[in-house]
Amino acid sequence: MVGGGQGAYIGNIHRLAARLDGAWHLVAGAFDVDPDKGRAFALSQGIDPARSYGSYEEMIAGEKDRSDRVDAVAICTPNFTHYPIAKALIEAGFDVICEKPLTATLEDAIALEALARESGRFVGVTYTYSGYPMVHEARVRIAAGEIGKIRTVQVEYPLEWMAAPIEQQGNAQAAWRTDPKKNGRGGSIGDIGTHAYHLAGFVTGLKLASLTADLATFVEGRALDDNAHVMMRYEGGARGLLWSSQVALGNSNGVRLRVFGETGSFQWYQEQPNELVYAPLDGRVQTIKRGSDEVSEDARLRSRTPPGHPEGYLEAFANLYAGFAEAIRARRDGRAPGALGQNLPLTYDGLKGVAFVEAVVDSAEAKEPVWLTPVAV
Ligand code: NAI
Repeated sequence: MVGGGQGAYIGNIHRLAARLDGAWHLVAGAFDVDPDKGRAFALSQGIDPARSYGSYEEMIAGEKDRSDRVDAVAICTPNFTHYPIAKALIEAGFDVICEKPLTATLEDAIALEALARESGRFVGVTYTYSGYPMVHEARVRIAAGEIGKIRTVQVEYPLEWMAAPIEQQGNAQAAWRTDPKKNGRGGSIGDIGTHAYHLAGFVTGLKLASLTADLATFVEGRALDDNAHVMMRYEGGARGLLWSSQVALGNSNGVRLRVFGETGSFQWYQEQPNELVYAPLDGRVQTIKRGSDEVSEDARLRSRTPPGHPEGYLEAFANLYAGFAEAIRARRDGRAPGALGQNLPLTYDGLKGVAFVEAVVDSAEAKEPVWLTPVAV
């Protein structure tokens, strides 16, 4: 692992998720931008002192010639560091699991996607919400035509934690997220709008044709947007509306997806992640439950407990890790991956996310409303 040291957020979620199914062991790391803190944190995690590194460069040098070298490296650092770290790892022959957004700039995302493709290295991107079983259930049922041709997609990711100027009050996580050099050009849209954009495309299979956007910065002194509204036109005529916000008081992690087709709709809300609401044309609304007999094999494979026992965020994240492990093993064995190793967020999805953010910011900065097509759709 690179990043995810003492006090960091997502690194710990990766550690928990990676271990849930026993497919991964954490054996080496450069956990902090401060080398001493990184080494101390590694030791606190029970990592061999010889593999407790001060920097990712040191880790690559220390690992690359070991017979038991690490199989893959998880990058859990702020956005602007993803590209140099991933590039160095791929060039040294390591597979990579990278946090979203894939990079802070479109230029870096294009270069990284090309590097991953040409090198044959595996690069998974942790779009968390695509790990949930009931998200897969919606994907499978929509692909099977259960709601007919899609008319409109409503997706939102409201958060409340940045409603006050906490980046000016010592919150390190908010500080880098509001610094364009470290975060990239899209504030809420880059941080969480990318999740919503990926989720909508993942579940519906729709391809974005063009978008127009309105960005706002409500907290005084903040350099990036903290609220985004995006109207989308998909190929084939479907419409979409995406809202991301870091200032939506009352919302802890209110990711919500609603897909409306000609013969029905599906709704999924991440704070009730074990349920998918299906509303067919005849008006008989049904709640489909994770773990029940009626769910698909794709959803069943990603569930661990019977219905009624709540599963959530960590299990969804673990599904990505289990899938990455299966995809890497299958590549090594020269076979097609099993179902868990399919439908995973990979480098091209990461590139599409960054291209989406760029198009949103360009559209919002245009003097007149403008419909733009992201580079990588
Ligand atoms: P954070 O600020 O809590 O932690 C960043 C960590 O990276 C710190 O330990 C820091 O010391 C370390 N670091 C920075 N530069 C480094 C370097 N060059 N070498 C080694 N370590 C370095 O950040 P947070 O919130 O955990 O976000 C990290 C990444 O995860 C971001 O890209 C963010 O967008 C993404 N993220 C993804 C989520 C998801 O749902 N998939 C949720 C939250 C964050």
